[in-house]
Amino acid sequence: MSLFRKSAGDVGLMDLPKLVAVRRDAARRGRLFTKPDMTYLFWEATLRCNLRCRHCGSSCEGKSPVRELETAEVKAILDTIAQDFNAKRIFVSVTGGEPLLRKDLFEVVAHMTSLGMRSCIVTNGTLLDREKAQALWDAGMRTICVSIDGLEDEHEAVRGKGSWRKALDGIAAARAIGFRRVEAITCVRPVHLDHLREIEKAVRAAGATMQRLITIDRMGRAELDGPDLWLEPPQVRQLFDFLETRRAEIKKNKEKFDVRFSCGGFLGVQRELKIRPGDSQCFAGLCVASILADGQVSACPSLPRSMAQGSALERRFSEIWRTEFKQHRDMAWRKTGPCEDCSWFEVCGGGGLHERLVQPDEFCWLDRQDGATTRAPA
Ligand SMILES: C[S@@+](CC[C@H](N)C(=O)[O-])C[C@H]1O[C@@H](n2cnc3c(N)ncnc32)[C@H](O)[C@@H]1O
Ligand code: SF4
Ligand code: SF4
Repeated sequence: MSLFRKSAGDVGLMDLPKLVAVRRDAARRGRLFTKPDMTYLFWEATLRCNLRCRHCGSSCEGKSPVRELETAEVKAILDTIAQDFNAKRIFVSVTGGEPLLRKDLFEVVAHMTSLGMRSCIVTNGTLLDREKAQALWDAGMRTICVSIDGLEDEHEAVRGKGSWRKALDGIAAARAIGFRRVEAITCVRPVHLDHLREIEKAVRAAGATMQRLITIDRMGRAELDGPDLWLEPPQVRQLFDFLETRRAEIKKNKEKFDVRFSCGGFLGVQRELKIRPGDSQCFAGLCVASILADGQVSACPSLPRSMAQGSALERRFSEIWRTEFKQHRDMAWRKTGPCEDCSWFEVCGGGGLHERLVQPDEFCWLDRQDGATTRAPA
């Protein structure tokens, strides 16, 4: 064990309590590989979108490339899930595409609530007014997440003219009708790094109660797009330094706000617990599943669609969950490439699944901080 901090993978004496916590979380996650426990469900409500963001990992635009589930079909799939799992333990994240384009959204959310499930929505916010926020509240939803990709010019450089003010107004509308959890999600690009505090100020002024900072994955339209979407190692370190400082300030000042890193994967003991709480690694196929827009069942909507495990229109969701997802629950293939000799493998499990598959040379957060393979012994 190194006493000097040379790289993200090093551990000093001061890190020992964190090392214990990280190992405990890893052991808990390890048990899910043999005993999966589905508690988090994504519903990709549609692949249609009223925007056409430069970085969109799902390549969404006006028309959907698939036949999307009809109201009765989604409800029937949810019914089987409620019959076969404990619905009260299931949290559904409604995403897309732009979920607010679905006319039956409120009906489906109300159905989830009637089954005992809790839910949130991830939206671009441009269609979110008081009426829609009220309808979501009445349907039983209690959390709204709105994407805010920087200050006005930066946000609109990827999301299009006029989208920033509407998204902030969407946050304000949600707060005005009584939502107490309104989260801003920011895909951090190099251009944001020197004024993350100003971006936080803007989302807080609109009424956000939390901000999640994530990085852009090389998939969908972002795969072919320019380097200005991607953080190089010094920029990843700058982002993580900001998060460490800001989270410590928030704690010290007892501010009623939370800012955290929200990508999956092992960040190294120095950073874990400092820039996000608890175990926030990738649980795809372990406790996380997804109903895609056409009824295919996948682990997470960010995974390549070729990794879907079967259609919930043809087979019962629980049967797919029980009998498929073998690759997700297999450690052997993950212990290859850079992970083969890594002493952190037991804790990390080989990185976040979709990052590993969509950017196979750039999925390790230790490398992404250091820019080289400098994984230290545990
Ligand atoms: C696909 S969108 C769907 C919901 C909604 N249309 C929106 O933009 O918020 C869900 C989240 O993924 C983020 N996202 C989009 N493309 C991404 C990418 N290539 N890498 C990481 N996150 C991405 C969006 O910024 C948004 O916060
Ligand atoms: S990121 Fe969201 S708002 Fe932007 S194109 Fe994709 S689905 Fe639409
Ligand atoms: S090399 Fe693999 S196992 Fe090691 S920290 Fe990176 S992603 Fe995790």
